[in-house]
Amino acid sequence: MEKIKFGLIGCGRIGLRHAVEIKKVGVLQAICDINKERLSLAKKECELSTAYDNIDELLDKEKDIDVISICTPNGLHAEHSIKSLKKGFHVLCEKPMAIKVEDCGKMINEAEHANKRLFIVKQNRFNPPIVALKQVIAENRLGRIFSVQLNCFWNRNNNYYQSSDWKGTKKLDGGTLFTQFSHFIDLLYWLIGDIRNVYPIIKNYAHENIIEFEDAGVVTLEFYNGVIGTINYNVNSYQKNFEGSITIFAEKGTVKVGGPYLNKLDYQCIDNYVIEDLPEGKGANEYGGQYQGSMSNHDEVYKNVVDVLNNKGVIATNGYEGLKTVEIIDKIYAKSRYLIDSSRILGL
Ligand SMILES: NC(=O)c1ccc[n+]([C@@H]2O[C@H](COP(=O)([O-])OP(=O)(O)OC[C@H]3O[C@@H](n4cnc5c(N)ncnc54)[C@H](O)[C@@H]3O)[C@@H](O)[C@H]2O)c1
Repeated sequence: MEKIKFGLIGCGRIGLRHAVEIKKVGVLQAICDINKERLSLAKKECELSTAYDNIDELLDKEKDIDVISICTPNGLHAEHSIKSLKKGFHVLCEKPMAIKVEDCGKMINEAEHANKRLFIVKQNRFNPPIVALKQVIAENRLGRIFSVQLNCFWNRNNNYYQSSDWKGTKKLDGGTLFTQFSHFIDLLYWLIGDIRNVYPIIKNYAHENIIEFEDAGVVTLEFYNGVIGTINYNVNSYQKNFEGSITIFAEKGTVKVGGPYLNKLDYQCIDNYVIEDLPEGKGANEYGGQYQGSMSNHDEVYKNVVDVLNNKGVIATNGYEGLKTVEIIDKIYAKSRYLIDSSRILGL
């Protein structure tokens, strides 16, 4: 079978990780970045003869490509995905799918019009304890789920934001829930269900004048299926990432998946069942020794793309699911803005 050919837009930190994984399962045909220095470094690293500093040029000239991988800043995902779909390419888009709900709708519509596949990167779904938890829920071993608690306590220091031209900005980053924790919100949706109501409080404690939004938040949740929950999150945990965990309390069991990256089964007490023999998870994505991100399962993401395009699989995270995460985050920020405006009007 002929190898699938990929084009990569955005050769920054995660873009280079994509390049490595693409080469394992397919052909990296062309890359693009508007930053000439990064482009030339990536060109060398990827051993390519052609590289583009303009997405339109790549999309016009590289007719042979099958899939475009979008690794540009959050606020550009929709524009770059739609352009690629319009030109007849399949798209793999990094998380978050976009930072506006309506843009996600446009991306889904464009994929339908073009009859092309749209994949969203949510590699935490492949973390071994998360796979096991999903199975336990699917087999109804926990019975009725009562409540869920999501904790995301990470550290992103000033240098992390100051060394980037988009992280921390409303326009291209969108908010801490988009860049740091959209994987975790996706898991709430995937494991528990869709969310009806959110009651948030957000604050910026340690990054004032550094980022244009919150560095901490607490959110109470009510799911459509009656489950209640909380999200506690921050990027101001002292010095380093502390925890990324999800705890489920149910009729027939309590399970906590934790570690800093949802990579460890911290606790289980399930009626007549034990989760065991979990495969060793991969480490977290390392970014030049400066900070760590989510678990590094991009190999699984690319295996899924290849399987689906060879008619052997179902998209691991599709556009509709990508939209749901963006919608939940949008609900949280919209309610926060409303509460902040109300308290201002009331002089609180
Ligand atoms: N799945 C994950 O675990 C994970 C981890 C890190 C980042 N991400 C996501 O990946 C995306 C990139 O993040 P990053 O940390 O690699 O950022 P980055 O700043 O290191 O890289 C982004 C790159 O895009 C380039 N770029 C900007 N505008 C462009 C344009 N118009 N055309 C072409 N290139 C352009 C920049 O020059 C830069 O090299 C973000 O959406 C982020 O949320 C996902």
